[in-house]
Amino acid sequence: MNILVTVASKHGATGEIGNVVAGVLRDAGLGVETRAPDRVDSLEGFDAVILGSAVYAGRWMGSATHFADRFADELASREVWLFSSGPTGNVPMPKDDPPAALALVARLGAHEHRSFAGRLDRSQLGFMERAITGAVKAPEGDFRDWNAIREWGAEIAAALARPKVAA
Ligand SMILES: Cc1cc2nc3c(=O)[nH]c(=O)nc-3n(C[C@H](O)[C@H](O)[C@H](O)COP(=O)(O)O)c2cc1C
Repeated sequence: MNILVTVASKHGATGEIGNVVAGVLRDAGLGVETRAPDRVDSLEGFDAVILGSAVYAGRWMGSATHFADRFADELASREVWLFSSGPTGNVPMPKDDPPAALALVARLGAHEHRSFAGRLDRSQLGFMERAITGAVKAPEGDFRDWNAIREWGAEIAAALARPKVAA
């Protein structure tokens, strides 16, 4: 069983979530490759794909949606999980999942879409990003819930280990 973990991340926080999920899958004895979405040329040899994206202005990053468009047919015949990361602050969960991610669950027949809280480190941001996050008073800090992220990875490993029932 080979799994591709591919994550669109601008400042690295979402990529680190993908790396932790990949580590959990490896520890479960699965073959895992991590690669940025725009570095993937083919899904050949992968049985399952985990596609994630940071959320900016309510949307998935272009490289994640572009990946889903490029490989829509191949993804529809594979096991797929989707995740987003964005909201900061101590909100329990984001109120609105990115529409593109929700549409992809249906389009690709993905198992699910999960949202995780993200990280906002103003020292990493450019002028415009600081202005935007300052204007909306986005809370600064690292709000990633590593236990929830590891649990999700374990759920995926368990689902992949279950025998498939023929349709
Ligand atoms: C300019 C800007 C806009 C953002 N817009 C959103 C948003 O609309 N929704 C959201 O949930 N998070 C938003 N965020 C928070 C980021 O998604 C969060 O910081 C995320 O962890 C960044 O991931 P990355 O480091 O992988 O790029 C925004 C952050 C910045 C800097």
